[in-house]
Amino acid sequence: MEGLRKMVFVVGCFLMMSFMVQEASAVRYIVGSKMGWSPTVNYTVWARDIPFYKGDWLFFVYDRNQQNVLEVNKTNFELCNAEHFLQNWTTGAGRDVVPLNVTKTYYFISGKGSCYSGMKVAIHVHNPPPPPSAAPMKSAGVPHLSSSLKSRILMPSLFTIAAVWDAFIFLW
Ligand SMILES: *[C@@H]1O[C@H](CO)[C@@H](O)[C@H](O)[C@H]1NC(C)=O
Ligand SMILES: *[C@@H]1O[C@H](CO)[C@@H](O)[C@H](O)[C@H]1NC(C)=O
Ligand SMILES: *[C@@H]1O[C@H](CO)[C@@H](O)[C@H](O)[C@H]1NC(C)=O
Ligand SMILES: *[C@@H]1O[C@H](CO)[C@@H](O)[C@H](O)[C@H]1NC(C)=O
Repeated sequence: MEGLRKMVFVVGCFLMMSFMVQEASAVRYIVGSKMGWSPTVNYTVWARDIPFYKGDWLFFVYDRNQQNVLEVNKTNFELCNAEHFLQNWTTGAGRDVVPLNVTKTYYFISGKGSCYSGMKVAIHVHNPPPPPSAAPMKSAGVPHLSSSLKSRILMPSLFTIAAVWDAFIFLW
């Protein structure tokens, strides 16, 4: 029993580590960078060169009295129609966090009229890139190690983490 406990503990720690690796690779983007979510930014230009990956986050920072953050579909994005939004990400503080947890194109608009002057952004979310294959040997191999560790461990760990926690509870 003691041996099994130890093994479960080690496996649990290992899975935690792999989650932390994943955590570290996710990026939180402030929408509009320094200017935030405001009518002065061209968000097409802002988003154009950023590679958004599943697991990243958007952070909308804005004047809560002037703007809000609504997720809409493509049609309503083009029309600036805020009436049939898919999700209202507005929390009220002017500081809203959106997890990009689905591989798709997200469409956000400001629902308070500024959409018509360009306050809208389409975010194309991609799957994370595969780890570099057959990377030439380098002395500083840490980034390669962490990315391949992540891809090999992450998916199985997603499914086993619940089982491990069950085991923890059962054993203790
Ligand atoms: C978006 O939603 C509207 C209803 O609000 C619907 O008429 C339209 O077809 C939808 N567009 C897409 C691309 O799903
Ligand atoms: C979105 O949610 C916020 C906070 O609950 C609320 O104050 C606001 O009225 C909502 N906006 C819309 C368009 O429903
Ligand atoms: C993505 O995140 C949103 C908000 O937290 C949640 O409602 C939704 O279920 C999540 N989707 C997936 C596929 O995890
Ligand atoms: C944003 O910039 C792009 C590329 O320069 C331009 O085509 C587009 O019209 C601009 N959008 C707004 C709302 O000014």
